[in-house]
Order: sequence, then structure tokens, then C-alpha cells
Amino acid sequence: KKIVVAYSGGLDTSVILPWLQENYDNCEIIAFVADVGQGAEELEGIEAKALASGASECYVIDLKDELVADYIYPTLKTGAVYEGTYLLGTSMARPIIAKAQVEIARKVGADALCHGCTGKGNDQIRFESCFAALAPELTVIAPWRIWDLTSRESLLEYLAERDIPTAASATKIYSRDANAWHISHEGGELEDPWNQPTKQVWTMTVDPIDAPNEPEFVTITVVKGEITAVNGEAMSPYQALMYLNEKAAAHGVGRVDIVENRLVGMKSRGCYETPGGTVMVEALRGIEELVLDKTTRKWKQTVAAEFSHLVYDGRWFTPLCASLLAAAGTLAEDMNGEVIVKMYKGSVQAIQKQSPNSLYSEEFATFGDDNVYDQSHAEGFIRLYSLSSRIKALASK
Ligand code: ARG
Ligand code: SIN
Repeated sequence: KKIVVAYSGGLDTSVILPWLQENYDNCEIIAFVADVGQGAEELEGIEAKALASGASECYVIDLKDELVADYIYPTLKTGAVYEGTYLLGTSMARPIIAKAQVEIARKVGADALCHGCTGKGNDQIRFESCFAALAPELTVIAPWRIWDLTSRESLLEYLAERDIPTAASATKIYSRDANAWHISHEGGELEDPWNQPTKQVWTMTVDPIDAPNEPEFVTITVVKGEITAVNGEAMSPYQALMYLNEKAAAHGVGRVDIVENRLVGMKSRGCYETPGGTVMVEALRGIEELVLDKTTRKWKQTVAAEFSHLVYDGRWFTPLCASLLAAAGTLAEDMNGEVIVKMYKGSVQAIQKQSPNSLYSEEFATFGDDNVYDQSHAEGFIRLYSLSSRIKALASK
């Protein structure tokens, strides 16, 4: 039996490797590491660590460009933001990780896929829904739902008993998940929503209080709902994100602290840092204001809301996803132009915007004279628009 494990190098997945070996007879363990931009610190020496923990092979796959180009940019185009605030950083990375894991499993002829998500969260649903869509024939192993190791101490003890080295300490309090787009922080004192996040929570952005006293301006070019250049320089999706991450993080942009509804039914409290992403969302919103008329914009908000749930709920590889992306593509046809955003002390605002597809016309909006709008027509419009109210009021008299 061959099992491909989604391995992060963290404590949980480091226990999973020997645990599988002990609990599945004659099995061969293959570690799969997805490089989604979590950073050198997490990836350094990871292959050696996997082999030392019991894997026979370790594949590290660079998914950074594909994550941003094929998962994040399409999601941005839809305008999806979960429950109004969460920019879906962890959620968007799960389908690409699951897909790459399935590819490795096929390559090595594996029988099973294994992940380190707990039985209480969203991630287990995302991984397994993607596995179901891409490789229904493969068995799924979710150790957290099976073993009796329940605390960090018991995991550390498990490794110590087997002389498997780990850099993990007993006092790590937060559960974090990082990629090119964001980092999430959950657990520890954050579990009580009455506790403010302490300074140690935040790792990616500067505290807005300590951010520069001078604002910084960035010009963003948008073509069909995609950011193609920053400050006049053409950039790939991944390059643009890296560039904006650096700028926005320095200004403390992109922190949110929320209580969200998990798909499994419970609420959870999370702090998220999404610096560059927050700037991107604001820039696209600026263009959208100029080019989409009222009913089209309302429809786009429906698409955005639907897509936010689709991504959060792990339904990427579905016909619904393709359908919503097709809608977003149509809506993005006119999403072209340029936005200047101002970053200052934790905030970002689109302060200048222009588009060749703009429907905004000073000439029409002006309070002075114009020639498309005859104010006397408004009376008849309002009369009919409010007719049902008039009829109801008359009837109840
Ligand atoms: N609550 C967020 C989500 O469901 C973040 C999850 C973080 N995952 C993790 N394994 N630390 O998308
Ligand atoms: C986990 O439970 O594995 C992480 C949090 C989540 O999936 O929501």
C-alpha cells in the first residue's frame, strides 16, 4: 500500500508519517509538499525532515505561479469575499494542493491520500471534496479523526518516544496557515472573541500605528478584470502580488479580525493578513464602479456572494464553479482601466480611477445643463415607479 501525505513540516504532519507506518501494514509513505508561497522558513530542510520522519520519498512542488494565476485571479475577478471580510486565502489554496497531491499519487501509483486537517474544520471538507472530484478511486485517510492523540503535548511525546527530531515546542499557541496571498491565525487566546489579538499574532504586516506617516500611492492597471501591471510595469499575477504584498504590508494594510461561520456549523474566530490582496480588491472595485451599470453590478454581487461560498465550502472542481467563472468572465469584459490607490496607516483607498469603458459622464451627472436628461421626464417616471405604493395607500384609506 502506498500513501501520499500532504506534508507541511509542522508538528501534526510530522506525527502522521510514523503513525501511518505503524497503523497500516507494509505501507510506503510518500510525502508531498506544496510550495504555495508559505516562505523559506517553513520549507527549509523539509525534504530531510520528511525522510527522517518516515517518508520514503518527498516531492516538493512549486505551485506559486499557478495558485495566483489560476485560483486567486479568477476568484478576484468574481469579487468573492466570504461573509463580507475574509479574502479566502486558505480556502483558495486547498484545491490546487489537492490537485497536485492527486497528480503525485497517480505518478507513484498510490492507493491512498492523507491529510493533516482536524475533524472540526473546513479544510478536511475542501481536501476531500477535491479528492472526490479528481480521484474518486483513492482512499482518504484523515488521522485526526481516527487517532487518540488530542493535545500538542501528546503529539510531541509521540515523536520523542520514537526519537524523531522536531523543532516544534510545547508552547506554540496559534494555528497558522500561510501562502502567497495571506496568513491566517486561529487558536490560543483568540478563541475568546472578547480578547484583542496581541502583538504576537500578526506576522506579515506592520502595525498600522507604526506605519509611515506619509501615504504611498500605487498605480494599478486592469485588463478584463485582471491586474496586469503595477506602477506601469507589466507583471505576472504572482509578481504583482509579491510587489503589492511588500508595499501594503509596510503600511499595515490588510488585517482583519473576524468571527466566521465554518461549514461544519460552528463559529470560529480568526485573524487574517492579506496585504497585497486587499489592495487588489480595492483597485478592482474602483474600476467596477466606473463600468458596471446598476443591475449588472447587482448581478455581479450575486455572483461574488455565490462564489465566496463555493470557494469557502471547497467546491472548486464542480460544474457550478465553471458556470460562475464564465459569468464572471462576461462581467469582466469591460473591466479595463487604471486606478491609483493610496495606502496609509492600515487603510487603502482607490483615489483616482479611469477606464476606456467608463459609463460615468460628468456631462450627464452635472447639476448644470445637459442634453440627455430632461428633468421633466422624472415626474412621470416616479409616478409609475411608485404607483403600487399609491394604490396601497389609497386602498387602506
Ligand atoms: N478559517 C479559515 C478557512 O477556513 C482559515 C483556516 C486555516 N487553516 C489551517 N489549517 N490553519 O479558510
Ligand atoms: C483544521 O481544523 O484543520 C484547520 C481549521 C479549518 O480547517 O477550518
